[in-house]
Amino acid sequence: MSRRPVIAGNWKMHKLQSESAELANAVMKELKDIDKAALPEVVIAPVYTSLYAVNKALTDCGCGKVKMAAQNAFYETQGAFTGEVSVEMVKDAGAEYVIIGHSERRQYFGETDEMINKKAKKILELGLVPIICCGESLEQREAGVTDSHIASQIKAALDGLSAEDVAKSIIAYEPIWAIGTGKTCDSDEANRVIAMIRNVVKEVAGADSADKIRILYGGSVKPNTIVEQMSKSDIDGALVGGASLTADSFAQIVKGAM
Ligand code: 13P
Repeated sequence: MSRRPVIAGNWKMHKLQSESAELANAVMKELKDIDKAALPEVVIAPVYTSLYAVNKALTDCGCGKVKMAAQNAFYETQGAFTGEVSVEMVKDAGAEYVIIGHSERRQYFGETDEMINKKAKKILELGLVPIICCGESLEQREAGVTDSHIASQIKAALDGLSAEDVAKSIIAYEPIWAIGTGKTCDSDEANRVIAMIRNVVKEVAGADSADKIRILYGGSVKPNTIVEQMSKSDIDGALVGGASLTADSFAQIVKGAM
């Protein structure tokens, strides 16, 4: 089974509207000479307030080479949830993907496995693609509970989803100790954990979904790490933080995944 690679840029809490549109345009410019069919699936995730501006930039270009994700969304449709933004709303703003369960959201905003599962269901119900994040802390790795922790995060996130919906989803394995630290996880170890995740998917949703689901690595991915990472059997792409904030380094990562 050959899975189409995905390179997603998580811009985190960076950039005003004009800067976001500028970066989206610069990314498209970097990719302009590459045939769309040769590219991986390229996704960028601006802050909520830049979704409209980035979508406009991507639509105006008309090249269809870059898609947009939201960094989060709430599972309720509307109502008295001050400060939240629903999946309908990010879809309305042009997002086709939604990142959920990022370790920063789990750590700073109390996002639980149960909330992540509700979000995944709503995202799929509305025809968008969830990018479900998982990963262990340094303490968990040192305590030898990496695999059991991640397996339980994945089982909870996918609970009650159809095999078809699981196949359409994307998972990102992001060891917390590798995020923003410059300490990339060894590629063989990342591949081992990702293969373990694929096995968990097989257990809960069957072999076909496990074959189809794209599982990305995230955590200090850089232009000089991506080629080796992509050479591994189970790594289907990358969720990139810091290196997605400049068009040149993000484009180099995209090209490294071709
Ligand atoms: P860095 O690439 O900056 O380590 O961030 C990874 C990440 O958290 C992407 O979601």
